[in-house]
Amino acid sequence: MDKLLLRMEGISKAFPGVQALDEASLNVYAGEVMALLGENGAGKSTMMKVLTGVYQKDAGTITLDGQEVTFHNARQAQQGGVAIIHQELNLVPGLRVYENVFLGQELRGRLGLDRAGMVARTGELLARMRVKIDPRQRVRELSIAQQQMVEIAKALLLDARVIVMDEPTDALPDEEVDSLFSVIDELRQQGKAIVYISHRLDEIFRICDRATVLRDGRFMGEMPVSQLTMDSLIQMLVGRPLDQHFPYASPRASEVALAVDGLTSHPVKDISFTLHTGEVLGVTGLVGAGRTELAQALFGLRPWQAGSATLQGAPYHPKSPREAIARGLYYMTEDRKRNGLVMGMDVRANITLSSLRALRGRLGLDLKQERRRVAAYIEDLRIKTPSMRQRARNLSGGNQQKVVLSRALMTRPRVLILDEPTRGIDVGAKQEIYQLILDLKAQGTAVMMISSEMQEVLGMSDRLLVLHEGRLMGQIARDSASQEKIMGLILGPGSAQGAGEATA
Ligand SMILES: Nc1ncnc2c1ncn2[C@@H]1O[C@H](COP(=O)(O)OP(=O)(O)OP(=O)(O)O)[C@@H](O)[C@H]1O
Ligand SMILES: [Mg+2]
Repeated sequence: MDKLLLRMEGISKAFPGVQALDEASLNVYAGEVMALLGENGAGKSTMMKVLTGVYQKDAGTITLDGQEVTFHNARQAQQGGVAIIHQELNLVPGLRVYENVFLGQELRGRLGLDRAGMVARTGELLARMRVKIDPRQRVRELSIAQQQMVEIAKALLLDARVIVMDEPTDALPDEEVDSLFSVIDELRQQGKAIVYISHRLDEIFRICDRATVLRDGRFMGEMPVSQLTMDSLIQMLVGRPLDQHFPYASPRASEVALAVDGLTSHPVKDISFTLHTGEVLGVTGLVGAGRTELAQALFGLRPWQAGSATLQGAPYHPKSPREAIARGLYYMTEDRKRNGLVMGMDVRANITLSSLRALRGRLGLDLKQERRRVAAYIEDLRIKTPSMRQRARNLSGGNQQKVVLSRALMTRPRVLILDEPTRGIDVGAKQEIYQLILDLKAQGTAVMMISSEMQEVLGMSDRLLVLHEGRLMGQIARDSASQEKIMGLILGPGSAQGAGEATA
């Protein structure tokens, strides 16, 4: 039997108004990947922050390799052999790979920095992970997955025995997930203990050996993944069985809400399509296909080089988001941390931020109405927060995402563009968001949904646009959409599958 490398026992941690962890525990053996699971706000990230010294625990013990440890900051944790691969990568884009790996602990020779030594050592670490990255390459030229590899190399340099990954695939394009998984597999074989957090449950079955489930900060159990099925896992997570089907209803007779003709807004090239009221139009493509850029152009965030559009029959060419919102089009950003939230403002202000004009009314801001509507969103989307006065910064990742979504809904747009609406959202809340999209549809909202999750986009959309390198490769009606057909178009005309599939 491998040895118990990490043992967290009876860990409690309270924040004002929130018992984030309530005697939670976690046991990880050398050479295993332990999934740490739970709904949004269950306490997963807090547990890892307690481990890595970001937060101090109120109670409990942490034992590493048989020794009780308490880390007071992330640096101590690193030195103690615990590394965390953050969601927002901590690399310096302008520096080279080896410079990032050795940042803060550069090798020195007699004549100053020992560059050759650092390049060689970085090369060794990357080779140990079996990844092909040139140590001299600049980080900004790497893909997200490759940047994660550099972070992991850094952890290996510090001889980390425990490696924590908190939602590492959150912003990772599907096609790069495989390379991350092979590195994780390699680390497992080297006897590392890995803690893996993700809301993408299929990943748990692909890469994890055992799973620990938290609910409301409490330990619900640990078990080998081989004893779990998707249904039993969901039951444990949510506390009840969940219908995993995508709710769907055909759109009713509808009119054109948005018509786009020959839109070019670099890197988007010559795109034409229509979006109807009460319709969900899915948009898919690989990273770099121009999905987000198309949405940003329609929201007045990017200049148009050519093309025209109409919204509700009138010419539409917004110069700013403010103008787009006034016309009834709203875009919910995929990047909640950078563009989505004002971290220092409370939940209420974040939700109402885009609707202040509408709420202002004739007699000034209608505070009562504002509070009522905010409370309704908190309840409907099950946003876990002690009150609407909580700062956005203090919410868990998934709950922050729900706040951004509430803000979009609050504007009551005629056309709503959702960019990766369920990223980082737990399996139960995902269902609520799907239901909500269905409700919007029934109310006649025109919804454009950008998503990398193929099942989701297939399950929710009436029609699909497939983009490749900024161009529209085809439009597929729901009835004739299949994963194979979409993949063919996504990969573009160069691919064997892609040839001759377009049905625009
Ligand atoms: N610094 C903080 N101040 C106040 N409350 C906090 C703070 N950090 C976390 N919390 C609260 O602790 C609880 C657990 O949050 P945590 O981030 O650990 O959840 P999580 O399981 O990682 O969720 P997610 O899946 O959404 O990332 C939440 O209710 C959160 O709002
Ligand atoms: Mg989290």
